[in-house]
Order: sequence, then structure tokens, then C-alpha cells
Amino acid sequence: MPGLLLGDEAPNFEADTTQGRIRFHDFLGDSWGILFSHPRDFTPVCTTELGRAAKLAAEFSKRNVKMIALSIDSVQDHLSWCKDINAYNGEQPAEKLPFPIIADKNRELAVKLGMLDPDELDKDGMPLTARVVFVFGPDKKLKLSILYPATTGRNFDEILRVVDSLQLTAYKKVATPVDWKPGDSVMVVPTLPDEEAKKLFPKGVFTKELPSGKKYLRYTPQPE
Ligand code: BEZ
Repeated sequence: MPGLLLGDEAPNFEADTTQGRIRFHDFLGDSWGILFSHPRDFTPVCTTELGRAAKLAAEFSKRNVKMIALSIDSVQDHLSWCKDINAYNGEQPAEKLPFPIIADKNRELAVKLGMLDPDELDKDGMPLTARVVFVFGPDKKLKLSILYPATTGRNFDEILRVVDSLQLTAYKKVATPVDWKPGDSVMVVPTLPDEEAKKLFPKGVFTKELPSGKKYLRYTPQPE
């Protein structure tokens, strides 16, 4: 079955994009990467999403995350659509966005990556791409996958929030609790013994008492 599971290595595909031909691993280099797919060019929700993504490019760059979009149309269509996206953002209708868009006119990559939405068909009865978010780590392995249907636009604030969580938890032995935002306290991972946790988190570990008597709800201020 096509698609990608957490921990899978990103396929090293070649593709034409609005910024030329790429090999995906070379494109990622040593950075984190986000690949987000779109049902089609010149569609309303996608236009708002790409507009927002363009405005947030500096935020992704600050986090060392390379952005790349995919839609099942040609480079020529993508370039023409970019003008609309820039105009939607209140800017000059230029063909350039701060990230490339992959052209996947024959849906080959969308099939390979498990991105098609069987409930959303084009006028010829062919499935459109769903709104997939893949985040890859610097090891090129899949760290996060979110799948939205074509009819629900993504929340890019949430995507930045999960990138912050992924990057923090990749390097520290913590996990982020419900509705966590950068700067909030985090949880000590359950596998870390108390003695080690005390050493690792000098700002303190705070355990909440629970009816079970089990001391698993351990908070610590977000480590640097
Ligand atoms: C959109 O981007 O607006 C869209 C695309 C396909 C189905 C529904 C909405």
C-alpha cells in the first residue's frame, strides 16, 4: 500500500517544481522539511493556505525547516497560480513564492505518497490530492503526518506549533502536553527514572498527585 508511515525515510524522488528540477534528498539537505499537498491549482481554500504559508516562510526558516508544496498540475499552471496567491496576500502578482511547488500532473507522486482523496473527484472523475502535511527530520525520516480532506483548510499556526514540539522533543527527554505552546511546562518522558530526571532538569520536576498513587504526571519548565 502506498504512503508513508512515521519513521519511514522520505523517498528520494525527482520532480519538476516552480524553482526547477529537484531531487528530494538534495533539496532537504541537513534541514528539517515540510511537504504539504494541495487538491488542485486555482482552488479557493488552497489559495488561502499557500498565501498563509508564504507569509510564514520566515518562521519556518527560523526553525531550519525547508518548505515545499505539491499540487497535481503543471509547473506552468503553478507559476500562473502563484500570481493569484501573491495578489491574495496583497502583494505584486509575481510568479515567485518563498518555496517551490512540485508539479505532479500525472499524480504519480501523489499515489506513491498516499495523498489521494477518494471522496474528492475532478470533472473527469479522477481523485484530487488531500491536504497532507509531512514533516521530515534532518535524518530524512518522517516525524509527523497529518491528513486533512480537501474541504478542510489547515491551520498553519498549529503546524508551526507541532514543529516546535517535534524539535524540542527530538533533543530533550520531554513530551509536550495537551494544547502546549512554546514556553509552557513540558512533561518528563515516562521512561526516564526520577533520579535521572532531577539531574537532567535542574529547574525542577513537579509531580502531580493522582488517585492511583502513580507518579507519572511529571512536569518541568521547558528546557533551553
Ligand atoms: C479548495 O481548495 O477550495 C478545494 C479543493 C477541492 C475541493 C474542495 C475545496
